[in-house]
Amino acid sequence: MMRNRGRPVAALVSSLALCWSFLTPPAAQAAPPPPPLAATPPMGFNNWNAFGCDVNETLIKETADAFVSTGLKDAGYRYVNIDDCWSLRERGPDGRLVPDPAKFPNGIKGVADYVHGKGLKLGIYGDAGTKTCAGYPGSLGHEELDAQTWADWGIDYLKYDNCNNQSDGSQEDYVRRYTAMRQALDRTGRSIVYSICEWGTSRPWTWAKGIGHLWRTTGDISDNWASLRSIIRQNAPLAPYAGPGHWNDPDMMEIGNGGMTATEYRTHMSMWAMMAAPLIIGTDLRTASAETLAILGNRELIAIDQDRLGVQGAVVSDENGLMVLDKPLANGDRAIALYNSTDTLATVSVATGETGLRDAGAYRLTDAWTGATTQVKSTISAAVPAHGTVVYRVRPLRDPTTVAPAVALGATLATLVPGPAGGTLTTAVTNRGVGTIRDVAVTADAPEGWTATPATPARRSRLATDATLETAWRIDVPASTPAGRYPIDLTASYRWGPTHHPATTSSQIIATVVTAPEDGRRHLSTISPVTSVNATGPVEPDQSNGGPLENDGNLITIGGQVHTRGLGTTTGSELRYYLGGRCSRLVTDVGIDDEAPGGPATFTVYADDTVAATSGPVTAGEAPKPLTADLTGTAWLRLVAESATTGTHADWASPVLTCGDVPDDSPVLPESRTLFSFESGTEDFTIANPGDGGTVAQSPLFHTEGTNGLKVSTPVAGNWFGRPLATPLDLTGATMLKFDLKAGDAGTVGEIAIQVGEGFSWCQGGLWTWTNAHSSRTITERFDQISCPTGITLDRSDIRAVWVFLNTGGEVFIDNIRAE
Ligand code: GLA
Repeated sequence: MMRNRGRPVAALVSSLALCWSFLTPPAAQAAPPPPPLAATPPMGFNNWNAFGCDVNETLIKETADAFVSTGLKDAGYRYVNIDDCWSLRERGPDGRLVPDPAKFPNGIKGVADYVHGKGLKLGIYGDAGTKTCAGYPGSLGHEELDAQTWADWGIDYLKYDNCNNQSDGSQEDYVRRYTAMRQALDRTGRSIVYSICEWGTSRPWTWAKGIGHLWRTTGDISDNWASLRSIIRQNAPLAPYAGPGHWNDPDMMEIGNGGMTATEYRTHMSMWAMMAAPLIIGTDLRTASAETLAILGNRELIAIDQDRLGVQGAVVSDENGLMVLDKPLANGDRAIALYNSTDTLATVSVATGETGLRDAGAYRLTDAWTGATTQVKSTISAAVPAHGTVVYRVRPLRDPTTVAPAVALGATLATLVPGPAGGTLTTAVTNRGVGTIRDVAVTADAPEGWTATPATPARRSRLATDATLETAWRIDVPASTPAGRYPIDLTASYRWGPTHHPATTSSQIIATVVTAPEDGRRHLSTISPVTSVNATGPVEPDQSNGGPLENDGNLITIGGQVHTRGLGTTTGSELRYYLGGRCSRLVTDVGIDDEAPGGPATFTVYADDTVAATSGPVTAGEAPKPLTADLTGTAWLRLVAESATTGTHADWASPVLTCGDVPDDSPVLPESRTLFSFESGTEDFTIANPGDGGTVAQSPLFHTEGTNGLKVSTPVAGNWFGRPLATPLDLTGATMLKFDLKAGDAGTVGEIAIQVGEGFSWCQGGLWTWTNAHSSRTITERFDQISCPTGITLDRSDIRAVWVFLNTGGEVFIDNIRAE
């Protein structure tokens, strides 16, 4: 449909010509119709994830070269995409965008010619606002000219961002801004893939089909497991909205950037393929390792992603962190993914009857990562490592006798404490294939110095289809073993088929060894619990529970009192910490969070199995209730919140744990230094561009320290506020900046900028998306994640100004700017 926009007559004629070609020979030399754009999810590269603003002609050309030399072009990767920061800060005298001549000496046209010469395509970045996210000229109100400029240069793909958007936040506004560019692109007459990048803010899956070829469904990805897991969780349920020419985009890939394990990167590739996601590489291909290239170049998964049926895999089941996806393929096969988002080995299973597979006596599975082929009778199942994904291409199988049966080797193991207590490992070998397997034996290979002894039989002579051999093992861990994660290798050997063919299946379970916290007084929210159970989404450190997603809470607020530290849980929660008899006391406030009045709730601190402190029933709106628990000699600390019905938002506010022999007045760790607290006024904070209007005033309406904060009102969307510093600030030794913020509308996006050195160079970080309107949050900016212009280093001893940027107009409150 979209292809026809702007050129309805030509499109109609060519489609009629197609129908008639069966009846009459086509006119001699008639040009074939152009292939539809993004009929399968676009594949390519974008520099942002690996290089940020540091983009230039050499990088883009060398990446195009690498597409060819690594074989990724042959694998299907086509688009080499330039992200933000490619232009000058001002438009040219003719109003056109100007490529930065230092970065692109031959202009974008020169790069396009080069990339096209390699048989590849070039993409560029623009923004449906007054400025891009990094502050370069945006295209709002310049759609026609910018689209034409890009078309003139030979651009084939546009990523169109959403910063500084002047939006009233309504979906109509989003549709208007993104349609304006759609129409401008159509008018150029050039085929340009249109990638809508508004972070899922206005639910583009409900309106963007027919406008963009793909739309981001989430905030920015980052190179860590929590980000990957959260994006999969958000994008997977959107399957019904995707199809040829209109794809859900869970963002560009991080594979190869170093922040995740190979298992996690394989999950990244597996799930992007299953979700029919655009495969946009985000790593430096000139230096990518063989392992990275093998993940990105996995032909089986690329075929699943690019399957011409164009169906995003549907979620068949999603329980306890284990997800099964089912994707139909054009040749009648189905791709089935078994995804384990939990932190330990888990067996993920699905009955073939629950998938779209047609009824058959047996099925053949081809593992997309190992290539191994096995058969199952009626359950597809595998022991999947923590954070791992197994993908099978599945089809009915007529004669299972010559194909190896699928045998799953699962295991469970509780946390281990070094010393005499030991622990129990349970292994389970299950035969999922048609036909009995024989001479089954399982072994467990623990780290040196440990012992693994079977307490129940570890052998069985015959295991029929769907039968399991379960074995309990005693595990002994030497007393001196440090806390950490240790692999235990498991192997099952057996024989299958009429010829008694020998085979093995292996798995690895990671044993978690725990030890007590270090000496000192510490915010409990900075210590990881060994286990944590919660009714709605995860337990949130330093914010209230919010909703089902990670990091979606507010500042903990009880009876109007704000706490910047604590644990946001719901009733029906239990947190377990290992103390090993080394801690003496927990001091905390508890209460029901103002964000969702419910209850009453009871908070109980257990020292092993005895109640060390309890709140009794606490009602909504009540002031925080203090609890002190004596933990002397306690091995396990448990925090439990309960109510008649689970799900009440229950906070542990400012809990502090004391371990070892430390004075009562020793500082609570990690230590934090207040930079601006607004108790005596505005501390000279100002609006950066006063011409746009706006005010900054001290305000008691929001504060997290003392009794005042700062209220910033900006009539227009998008303004910086902050202050230059008369004397440079020395933050040597600090690792992060923090401040507490209460913002207006959902979708507000902000940034932080730090000016360093004599030249007052800007180093920028942040860009956080607000999911809840009028919510409050501690913003944390790690110094090592703030990026500076080329040639500038963020010298923490020489900070000359701190600025905060907000993208929507209205009122915003800020308090307690601090370094930690
Ligand atoms: C936004 C986008 C990112 C990237 C940056 C560039 O954050 O979501 O993918 O393009 O802007 O500034």
